[in-house]
Amino acid sequence: MIEIHGLTKSFERRVVLDRVDLDIAQGETLVVIGRSGCGKSVLLKHVLGLMEPDAGSVTIDGKRLDQLDRAQLYQLRMRCGVLFQGGALFDSMTVAENVGLGLSENTTKSKSEISDIVAERLAWVGLEGIGHRSTSELSGGMRKRAALARAIAMDPEIVLYDEPTTGLDPITAEGINDLIVNLRERLKVTAIAVTHDMNSAFKIGDRIAMLHNGQIIFDGSVDQARTSTDPILQQFIVGATTGPLEPL
Ligand SMILES: Nc1ncnc2c1ncn2[C@@H]1O[C@H](COP(=O)(O)OP(=O)(O)OP(=O)(O)O)[C@@H](O)[C@H]1O
Ligand SMILES: [Mg+2]
Repeated sequence: MIEIHGLTKSFERRVVLDRVDLDIAQGETLVVIGRSGCGKSVLLKHVLGLMEPDAGSVTIDGKRLDQLDRAQLYQLRMRCGVLFQGGALFDSMTVAENVGLGLSENTTKSKSEISDIVAERLAWVGLEGIGHRSTSELSGGMRKRAALARAIAMDPEIVLYDEPTTGLDPITAEGINDLIVNLRERLKVTAIAVTHDMNSAFKIGDRIAMLHNGQIIFDGSVDQARTSTDPILQQFIVGATTGPLEPL
């Protein structure tokens, strides 16, 4: 469903992505882990066509993004739900308006249909009854959940999650993990999640890939990741301060 080939991107002289290859099958959830600043969000932005690679390509459902015109890219984005790292909610709008934005701008659904869907999705993320509130009144965790409700409002086939659980208390994080697993199993979405929360990575992923120094240094099943003897991956999983990775 998603093919990333030779993806390379530099900012000034720094190579952030260095010939990255990743394939995500339909219905699969790939978790990309890696240290802060290693290029996880940059990778997702390429999958959405929000950034252009220096070299390499992203192909979604057989369509190479750099060969699409604006309208085709837009069509493709309609099939993707995105949970941006900071939430990217509009503070001038209510929670419900944020969640329903894609539906009101891109579909012919009536106001009452949209409000039913919005209420359902807010309930899925444990935010029932807060649709009328301003997003600026929400706690960080509530913002994240509202952003997740928006990401799944249009029944996307593909969902990209950027740090879905970071900054949440463990119980709320677990609720988000369950929701992501549910979407995978019930709606058969294809997903890429980037995170440095290993608990979440093991729960939500079918496969784990580790990005390090611009390259994919590990790509395998969750079980293979757990039992891998790769010193960098193992240090990352346990969060040890000694090993090949040095504290920043
Ligand atoms: N638009 C940009 N212009 C210049 N540099 C950028 C841009 N976007 C990202 N970078 C740089 O690319 C590198 C990777 O950034 P990215 O946001 O992908 O990290 P990340 O892995 O998502 O980190 P975190 O876990 O902290 O979210 C960083 O050094 C960042 O400063
Ligand atoms: Mg990031």
